[in-house]
Amino acid sequence: MKLGVLVAFDKEIDLLNLNGKEFCLGGCRMCSLTLGDNEVVLALCGIGKANAGACTQLLISDQHVDAVLNIGLAGSACHIPIGGAVLVTEATYHDLYPIDFVAEDYPNLTSFPADKRLSDIAEKILSDMGVVYTKGIVATGDQFISNSETKQDIISRTNCSAVEMEGCAIAHIAAKNDIPFCLVKIISDSADEEAEEQFHDTLTIAEYLDTSTNFIKRFAQAL
Ligand code: ADE
Repeated sequence: MKLGVLVAFDKEIDLLNLNGKEFCLGGCRMCSLTLGDNEVVLALCGIGKANAGACTQLLISDQHVDAVLNIGLAGSACHIPIGGAVLVTEATYHDLYPIDFVAEDYPNLTSFPADKRLSDIAEKILSDMGVVYTKGIVATGDQFISNSETKQDIISRTNCSAVEMEGCAIAHIAAKNDIPFCLVKIISDSADEEAEEQFHDTLTIAEYLDTSTNFIKRFAQAL
């Protein structure tokens, strides 16, 4: 199986690229390598829905990946603390109105369910790694959420457990191509007035890099 992995930081590619070949596609830094028995293409996604959708389509159309994994940071919209994870059951947009318009085109959905087999693999890995996690909805939009009122409004409209800026665009494009996907969101902040400071905490980023690279290696080997 060939796995496409959308990552958030250059450092993740640096840390995982021990035997890989680097290239640039559509302005995205990518790297193809072998992990376990599987071919993996790592792609630096960029921030926001346009970057995430374009990067996902490139992985599918140009690199012919059979499945897509995204691991990235998110603001918490539930009890999960910084460093914990939300294993995404489905992804929706919080900034697309009216949301029903999305369902006019294939695959005719307003939220996109993650693949069960891939998510079961991810859940076992999170549990083996001792990461505190919950399963839940991710709400995606082109906005960094750093206000309690905005966060509560998004929760009331989407019932989400995490907010971020790429997940649903990745899910949407994977679903449109009938490609299975799995999203794992590591909590970097509380999506309220403290979010910006928490997000820029270097310790959080260092811990994130450790969790994400460890997770990606285990996931690729478990496929
Ligand atoms: N990614 C990480 N934290 C976020 C937040 N609070 N809002 C949007 N995207 C995020």
